[in-house]
Amino acid sequence: MNGIKCIGILTSGGDAPGMNAAIRAVTRTAISRGFAVKGIMRGYKGLITNEIIEFRSQSVSNIIQQGGTILKTARCKEFETPEGRRIAYDHMKAAGIDALVVIGGDGTLTGASIFAAEHDVPVVGLPGTIDNDLGGTDSTIGYDTALNTITQAVDKLRDTASSHERLFFVEVMGNTAGYLALNGAIAAGSEAAIIPEMETEVDQLGELINRGFRKSKNSAIVLVAENPATGGAMGLAERVKKEFPQYEARVTILGHLQRGGSPTAMDRILASRMGEAAIEALVEGQRNVMIGIQNGAIAYVPFQKAIRHNKGIDRSDIELVKILSM
Ligand code: F6P
Repeated sequence: MNGIKCIGILTSGGDAPGMNAAIRAVTRTAISRGFAVKGIMRGYKGLITNEIIEFRSQSVSNIIQQGGTILKTARCKEFETPEGRRIAYDHMKAAGIDALVVIGGDGTLTGASIFAAEHDVPVVGLPGTIDNDLGGTDSTIGYDTALNTITQAVDKLRDTASSHERLFFVEVMGNTAGYLALNGAIAAGSEAAIIPEMETEVDQLGELINRGFRKSKNSAIVLVAENPATGGAMGLAERVKKEFPQYEARVTILGHLQRGGSPTAMDRILASRMGEAAIEALVEGQRNVMIGIQNGAIAYVPFQKAIRHNKGIDRSDIELVKILSM
């Protein structure tokens, strides 16, 4: 099939719940289509250090429900150099791997795109990141689980925020995107979401205070997207201390909690469908595409349209948070 006999699979960058479900789907679909499968440990690093193992159907038993990735993951600086990629290519060829399925986020797909062009290797990507910051797909694997984790955490914080009548800033991940903050705010009924997409347009903190949320409420929970430029939730709490001392502010940073846990049914289904689609794409002769989901249908998205291609925030969702938090 297009000269492909053996497919290598790896996970790279930040882990995301549902990566294991994707590994399982890729492996089992490939085997059912007559391909051999090899697992590459620790992402691109494993190609450089030659940590490549045989994968059988049983290698992926009992993992659909597990968070993290059985293949481990890494952020690999060496793969960013032509020399590193040359070593990776040599090991890949020596292991008999003809094509790659890579699961990860923006950095992973950027690496895949460069590697594929440099060494003429068929590569298909799966969007595995909690950030949901890739173009050409309505959702990424892990995003739904992270949103659920955020929602549960905010539900708990609501109890103490309301008892003490405090203003809580809850910092969530997202890389440079505000999807987790904005949709987390909708799901948890937060008073506001402060997101990088709006940073240059409006003083989001000032707006929240001026909106007079205190008129109808004694406490508030604000979801804040991580943002080194503004100092994130800590930066906002500092501002409140100086500019609005009448409020008692507290900060919770959810951090890597958001990357863990058993994937939701939505993420398992998404990962399973996308994993199957990755193999079908290779069978069809597709290369250098990411598998996306658009209005419920599988789509092949050229790497260049997926990476550094933030979908943009839906303005009506920002309004929704305001209307529903009155
Ligand atoms: O891309 C996933 C992500 O969790 C981002 O939301 C976050 O900015 C980053 O990874 C954190 O990376 P690390 O685990 O290397 O600290």
